[in-house]
Amino acid sequence: MTINRGPIDLAGRVVLVTGGAGGIGGEVAVQAAAVGATIAIADRAVNDSPDGVLARIRAGGGTVEAFVGDLGDAADAARVIAAVEQRFGRIDGVANCAAIMGFGDFLDLDLAAWELMLKIDVMLVVHVCRAVLPGMLARGSGSIVNFASRLAETGSVEAPHYAVAKAAVVSLTRSLAQAYGPGGVRVNAVSPGTTNTAMGRDVIDSAAGRDRATRIPLRRFVTPAEVASTVVFLLSDAASGIVGQTLQVNGGELMT
Ligand SMILES: NC(=O)c1ccc[n+]([C@@H]2O[C@H](COP(=O)([O-])OP(=O)(O)OC[C@H]3O[C@@H](n4cnc5c(N)ncnc54)[C@H](O)[C@@H]3O)[C@@H](O)[C@H]2O)c1
Repeated sequence: MTINRGPIDLAGRVVLVTGGAGGIGGEVAVQAAAVGATIAIADRAVNDSPDGVLARIRAGGGTVEAFVGDLGDAADAARVIAAVEQRFGRIDGVANCAAIMGFGDFLDLDLAAWELMLKIDVMLVVHVCRAVLPGMLARGSGSIVNFASRLAETGSVEAPHYAVAKAAVVSLTRSLAQAYGPGGVRVNAVSPGTTNTAMGRDVIDSAAGRDRATRIPLRRFVTPAEVASTVVFLLSDAASGIVGQTLQVNGGELMT
């Protein structure tokens, strides 16, 4: 098969995909591998079944390895990223897809729910960025793509802790972009609308979800592949002028 690389080419690049065993992360890994990247998948567990992400990438002739750990733990995140750098020599791009979702009215959420949400959906991103940035700055180049959510902009009655965590990721993205742009590292975020993965499926399949879809300009929710192609674009030099931005991929449901 001939791959039309167009301007999006990650040949020779090492891309770390956190949450790469998940719905969107898996698609990012497959699409990045298809345009030449060597892929390191970091997740709490990685399925190596024939239809899993590792097999899909290897079937396409790509190079991929799994690194298992809890990236919400600072020491484990540092260990995983050191292992990736040791195995592949460098990390040129990061897609920070790993996250958890949760629901609960503000007055029903206990402190443990808040602490877990902030530990995973904010501090995980902090741990990963702290670990990868020194190598990127030493080489004078790199691209980090963090994951926000439409709810970072809108707020959420049903998931206020998740909305807060994702708003923090948007702010962190802007801070890192300003701090490390001069060192050649671009930091951006992708903000998906509800997407058909383990995380988004229940909402999409609900009566409220079907009703919502009738008001989305595209008249449907976006797919993991549509979110992933935006991430791969941001990882690549095709996005060389894009810094500190949060790109919305939501079929037009939210326009910023
Ligand atoms: N699916 C949606 O509707 C939607 C909407 C907006 C934003 N997002 C965001 O997109 C990103 C990808 O979501 P998805 O839909 O693919 O979800 P997913 O649940 O399919 O994948 C998330 C992955 O992150 C991993 N992960 C979670 N905690 C981890 C930890 N401590 N250490 C290592 N790995 C960990 C999980 O094991 C899982 O494989 C997330 O940041 C999510 O918040 C998703």
